Amino acid sequence: MKIKTAFFCQHCGYESAKWTGKCPSCGQWNTFVEEKVQKDIPLRNISWQEEKENTRSNNIVNLSDVSGIEEERLLTPDGELNRVLGGGIVPGSLVLVGGEPGIGKSTLFLQNALMLKDITTLYISGEESAQQIKMRADRLQIKNDNFFLLTETSTQTIFQEIKKLRPQLVIIDSIQTLQSPLIESAPGSVSQIRETAAEMQRFAKESHTPVFLIGHITKDGSIAGPKILEHMVDTVLQFEGDQHYAYRILRTIKNRFGSTAELGIYEMTGQGLRQVTNPSEILISQREDMLSGVAIASTMEGMRPMLVEVQALVTQSVYGTPQRTVTGFDLRRLQLLLAVLEKRGGFHFGMKDVFLNIAGGIRVEDPSIDLSVLCALLSSYEDIAIGSNICFAGEVGLSGEIRAVNRIEQRIAEAEKLGFEKIFISRYNKKGVDFSKFNIEVIAVGRVDEVYKGLF
Ligand code: TYD
Ligand code: MG
Repeated sequence: MKIKTAFFCQHCGYESAKWTGKCPSCGQWNTFVEEKVQKDIPLRNISWQEEKENTRSNNIVNLSDVSGIEEERLLTPDGELNRVLGGGIVPGSLVLVGGEPGIGKSTLFLQNALMLKDITTLYISGEESAQQIKMRADRLQIKNDNFFLLTETSTQTIFQEIKKLRPQLVIIDSIQTLQSPLIESAPGSVSQIRETAAEMQRFAKESHTPVFLIGHITKDGSIAGPKILEHMVDTVLQFEGDQHYAYRILRTIKNRFGSTAELGIYEMTGQGLRQVTNPSEILISQREDMLSGVAIASTMEGMRPMLVEVQALVTQSVYGTPQRTVTGFDLRRLQLLLAVLEKRGGFHFGMKDVFLNIAGGIRVEDPSIDLSVLCALLSSYEDIAIGSNICFAGEVGLSGEIRAVNRIEQRIAEAEKLGFEKIFISRYNKKGVDFSKFNIEVIAVGRVDEVYKGLF
């Protein structure tokens, strides 16, 4: 029998009969790889339940007849995970969890599965042996008699086992190791990932069993495999952090059942991941006297206020081209802020090297961190330390204006709670807020030069 092949864009999953240099769908170059596909073989028992296949009704329903009662979510003992999922696990949902190798994905889900003692969990691993997983479970020191392990990669066998066990939660580590007998190509290829994810999705929806798919991430930060994988699932979570730090962040990238602004914070310890319920305390380094180039930002990640330390170093450039290096912050955003300081503040960064770092190895997306980045830069530029009792919350506009940010009261309250005595905010944030209830001094500023005068 001649084996059918097709070409797949490794970036977006576009399928083509012949090789093309540029993908007509996503515009990427040189992304087509030939994969063996075999669609017409009479293997139809891949679905987890054959009987279901025929009885599935596609009838039109009146929306008002559909019961709107939200199905009860499964709450895990892990508050951070519940938070990023939008309030617990939704029955029948398919969740993709991405992250770099070694960041702790397997640990996080093994730990959660072991902690869920009241439901039957099936952990399917195609990456590690049962012994390896047992060793990790011993390290986590959690005992659970309802936890089952399957080291298997064929979806056909997996569904056979699922039919026997009837688990209430399925975790797959990882989607890149799964193999459907319907597709010829190797595990991890676009066509395999697409097919196996579709099979898992059918299973999740028909059986109302939540399924977590763990996936690896490529160097450019996207989940290895086609972009369509992200479209197929209900929720995409990303587990990230700097390998050299103990802190890990679980971020929601997409969520059909909740907000994408949420984030969970963990610390990797000798006994697995520990939930960090008060992030501010760990993200600000404890020190007696402040050094120049350090500024504290009162940021919000989702619904949660979080104080973050920004560190800047501005030095005379030794080489012809000045360097700009960032960790945890967007490089283009830094360049923009430097341009604002140059043009609106008259500071000369042109011949200076600039290094910027968000302490703790986390990445902050809240634009309210701008003002503290700007102040950290100024503080290092002038070599004058900012008092350790001062923090900031404001976005910086192109004309040098300090713009208002959302949830200002929560940010101020958090700063006050952590013992700060002064907070710089935008004067556009003053409207409708009663500042007299705070003990912390609120300094409202409108422009970059006002901040400078207020600080130094
Ligand atoms: P792992 O979950 O295997 O990462 P992933 O599945 O994302 O590839 O975790 C990898 C790291 O976590 C590994 O370097 C060891 C470390 N680790 C701890 O520090 N403490 C622990 O309790 C465990 C289980 C792992
Ligand atoms: Mg792993």
